[in-house]
Amino acid sequence: MQERVSPARRISGTLRLPGDKSISHRYAMLAAIADGPSRIRNYSDGADCQSTLGAVRALGAAVERSGGEIVIHGRGLDGLERPAADLDAGNSGSTIRMLSGILAAQNFPTRIYGDESLSRRPMERIMKPLAEMGAKITARDGRFPPLEITGTRLRPIDYTLPVPSAQVKSCVLLAGLYAEGQTIVHEPIRSRDHTEIALREFGADITVAARKIILQGRPKLEGRDLAVPSDLSSAAFFIVAALLIPGSDLVIQGVGLNPTRSTLLDFLVSIGGKIQILDVAQANGELVGDIRISSAPIRGGIIEKDATAALIDELPVLAVLGAASENGLEIRDAGELRVKETDRIATVIENFRRMGIAVEARPDGMIVPGRQSFRAAAFDSFGDHRIAMAFAVAALRAGADSTIDNADSAAVSFPQFFSILRQVAA
Ligand code: S3P
Repeated sequence: MQERVSPARRISGTLRLPGDKSISHRYAMLAAIADGPSRIRNYSDGADCQSTLGAVRALGAAVERSGGEIVIHGRGLDGLERPAADLDAGNSGSTIRMLSGILAAQNFPTRIYGDESLSRRPMERIMKPLAEMGAKITARDGRFPPLEITGTRLRPIDYTLPVPSAQVKSCVLLAGLYAEGQTIVHEPIRSRDHTEIALREFGADITVAARKIILQGRPKLEGRDLAVPSDLSSAAFFIVAALLIPGSDLVIQGVGLNPTRSTLLDFLVSIGGKIQILDVAQANGELVGDIRISSAPIRGGIIEKDATAALIDELPVLAVLGAASENGLEIRDAGELRVKETDRIATVIENFRRMGIAVEARPDGMIVPGRQSFRAAAFDSFGDHRIAMAFAVAALRAGADSTIDNADSAAVSFPQFFSILRQVAA
């Protein structure tokens, strides 16, 4: 599907966005293996989180929808059932990587696969720690989906993450729920900690100190009433849009402000962004608040090391902002971008080329000079939701209408993206 995006005169209004994708996945998986029902409000309606719901349903956890909430009837730690068919993770790395931790510990075999993009994404990063725990998993060419998981009794592990990845950390912790004794994960670079928070919320015994996470195996997890905050990574597109278009003033309500995610706001403020946090509350252990964004001159800067890991999903739209900034933006240490839904260094650079924006590619990043003018273009998402949305934002600053091919990929995390964009850019 193709979308047309017109230039915006300003971005304004008050928004409430769909539920956080990362948190939704975790709540669905933990609800399925908890005892009793969990009610989840504002569960993400993105295709990725629907893949997780489909998988937990296939594993025997009934899922009901009523109004804006879902109810998942948990089966308890040992209550999942052998699915009648292979599990389909769709486009979702989170589904296949995190769920594999649970599947590896079942007393039945499963096969889990994904779409063409997911079938090219590396899985050794979860296969290695799971194998150390005793899991039996085979993959296409030893590293790609589909995964054939035999299901067996797991041992606890003491594991240091070789790549900063919340999906890998979560996979090991979910597997650790099934292993007798303490599973320990060390994180040299901090990644999002929604799994740790959610595990505590469901009643697991988990402690975190100085990048070391200790989880006691075989807990009794209890179904919970949960509310998912709006997704800060979805909000990022509107935040950048409001910073890019002079005269903008936008409020986004109920956004997840977990400190392992809100580096985005700190970084934007550090380079000149006008962002106010209007109020903050806690829900299910997660920080939630309203934010107000006004257009402002952006200086630009360097994103590297821990900041790169913390901003990984926002880098495409930040690259767009960088091209309009005063001094440009350099992204370093971002080799992980090459193994996302697309090679996001390549797909950002190709779309920049189409709009006449100069950029220098690096094996693990890019250098985007500032003060560039944005030309209307025929963009392509290449099937990647964040590329579709990042270049829709770029199109707002061009002098004429742009088109985005394969724009429907936005629905992977944010089905309402284009209609909300039209609303705030009107
Ligand atoms: C996610 C972790 C990140 C992120 C992805 C969601 C999660 O992936 O890019 O969109 O929910 O844990 P990695 O674990 O590969 O860094």
